[in-house]
This record gives sequence, structure tokens and C-alpha cells, in this order.
Amino acid sequence: MPVNLSGRSFLRLLDFSTEEIEYLLKLSRNFKDLKRTGTPHRYLEGKNIVLLFQKTSTRTRCAFEVGAMDLGMGVTYLDPGSSQMGKKESIEDTARVLGRFYDGIEFRGFDQADVEDLAANAGVPVWNGLTDAWHPTQMLADILTVQENFNYDIKGKTLVFMGDAKNNVARSLMVVCAKLGMNFVACGPKECFPDPELVKTCEEIAKENGCTITLTDDAVKGCTGADVIYTDVWVSMGEPDEVWAERIKQLEAYRVTEKLMGVANKDAIFLHCLPAFHDTNTTIGADIAKRFGVTEMEVEDSVFESKASKVFDEAENRMHTIKAVMYATLQ
Ligand code: CP
Ligand code: NVA
Repeated sequence: MPVNLSGRSFLRLLDFSTEEIEYLLKLSRNFKDLKRTGTPHRYLEGKNIVLLFQKTSTRTRCAFEVGAMDLGMGVTYLDPGSSQMGKKESIEDTARVLGRFYDGIEFRGFDQADVEDLAANAGVPVWNGLTDAWHPTQMLADILTVQENFNYDIKGKTLVFMGDAKNNVARSLMVVCAKLGMNFVACGPKECFPDPELVKTCEEIAKENGCTITLTDDAVKGCTGADVIYTDVWVSMGEPDEVWAERIKQLEAYRVTEKLMGVANKDAIFLHCLPAFHDTNTTIGADIAKRFGVTEMEVEDSVFESKASKVFDEAENRMHTIKAVMYATLQ
């Protein structure tokens, strides 16, 4: 049966079949070609979308804005302080109003229940631009980057997530790997392993697709034979500042170092959803250096800047993949 995502929301990858995810990846490649060759693709002229952000963003916001404009759409951006949502108006009522104005709604926030509430009431597609639980649009960009580096043959490749393996990005990676036949390794301290129920679900999906899910607290063992080493910040948006001290203690052994890249496969790549703390050139990075004497956090600067690091290709791919999601669901 041909894939048809028209009218669907994009809230978490567990709701999408392998075939549907592969279709979105193929569409992303097409959009990347169109952009690279300067070929106009204003396929959604006359439509309008709204972007709701309860948390900050660079990539996700810009990917939705540029993607929508390239597709010929109008865009409204609402930052955390500039709508009534949540304070004076429920998510449900907001959804019912915005659904009358717009053809699609992007939401970045805290609770997964909020984005689901929006989708249940808006009557138009809703796209999850990150919640505490999931980051599904990030996954398409990550996998497109893996495909580009392994000749579009990713089945059986191994992706290792280093660090806080219970966070939104790690959980989403575990799902997308299982769906696409890639082995997934969560490597971090046991306290940061993904929740057992999700692990069980992913193991079942992985079994169907001929791949594996592994949890380990041994950094060297975890990275040995990896094709992709991936990491993310040690403290995610919305977590209190007090968490830093504990996380640094828990996760220092899981920093992606040159030594760990050295036990991975010879052509292994490094990925990070960004933003990354690889030096002290940020306010938080400088503050952590002052308070804890740590100048590189989840990744060594030399790995971040190495040839194996594909993080800026990955960031660019946010735009092509988000464009694919908007097109597929709004066409
Ligand atoms: N990777 C990612 O979602 O980046 P932003 O927080 O800048 O959107
Ligand atoms: N885990 C991070 C991802 C940022 C893109 C966070 O939620 O802050």
C-alpha cells in the first residue's frame, strides 16, 4: 500500500511504521536535492502554520520557519511569553482556536500530554518539536545523516548513545533504531538507563527488524565496534540547575573522548543533536568550568571538531527533514 501521511500529526515515532519513516527519509533526500540545486518547491503556497515554543530553540524553530517559507507557507512564531496558552487559556481551547486559523501547528514544550492534547483538538496536523519525553523530528535528521555516511545502507549498523540515556533524544533514538533495523546501545550509569517498559517495547520492535537493544554501564565495551557514537547534553531543558553537580559526577566517565572514538569502527561518525558543551564559549559552559572545573562536558572539543564529527550536516538535515514532515502531512 502506498504511504499516505496526509492529515496525520507527528508526535512520536512509535506511532509510525518502518515504511512510513523510510518514506519521510526519502522525501527528505528529495527536498535536500531541490534546495541544493536552487529548484523552487513552493508546493504548499497559501497555507499557514504556527510555531508554539515553551522552551528555547535555534535549529527546530529555524528549520520550521525556513522549511515553511521554502514551501510557500506563511509562518507565525509564538514564544513562551506571548500567547495565552496555559496561563489564561487551556491547551484544548488554544488548539480549537489555532486550528481555525492555521493548517498546521508545531509545539515544543514540557509535557508530552500537552502536544497530544493539541493534536486531539486542533483538527489540523500537530508536529512535536520536542517534549520532555520525545524529540521525533530530530530523529529523521539523525538517520538521514547516518544514511549519507553509510551509503544509504544502515541496517545492521550500531548506534551508541553515551550519557543520559533516559532523556528525550536517547529514548527517541532507541525507537528509531529498532524500527529501522539498527542496533542501539544505551551507554551510561544504570541510574540513567531508559525506562524498562520502553526498553521492552523497543526490544520487541527490534526483534521484528533483526536488530538489538543493549544497555551497558561500561563505556569502552559500549563503544567497541560502534558505527555511530551519539551524545547529548547532560542536563536537559526544564531540569533544575541543581542537577548539574550530580550529573557531572555520574556522566564524566561517559564523555565522548578520542580514546572512545578509537575503539569504535574505523569509519565511525560522531553525532550530537546540538547545542553541545564542548568548550567554555557559552554562559553555561563558563559557569560550569568555574563551579566544577570541567571545561568539556559530554564531548571532548577535539572529537567535536574532528573529521568524524558530522554534527553540522546533521543540523542542516533538520531543515530538509522537517520540510518533509510538513509536506507529507499537509499535502
Ligand atoms: N537539536 C535541537 O532541537 O536544537 P534546538 O534546541 O536549537 O532546536
Ligand atoms: N535533551 C535535550 C535536547 C535538546 C535538543 C533537551 O531536552 O534539552
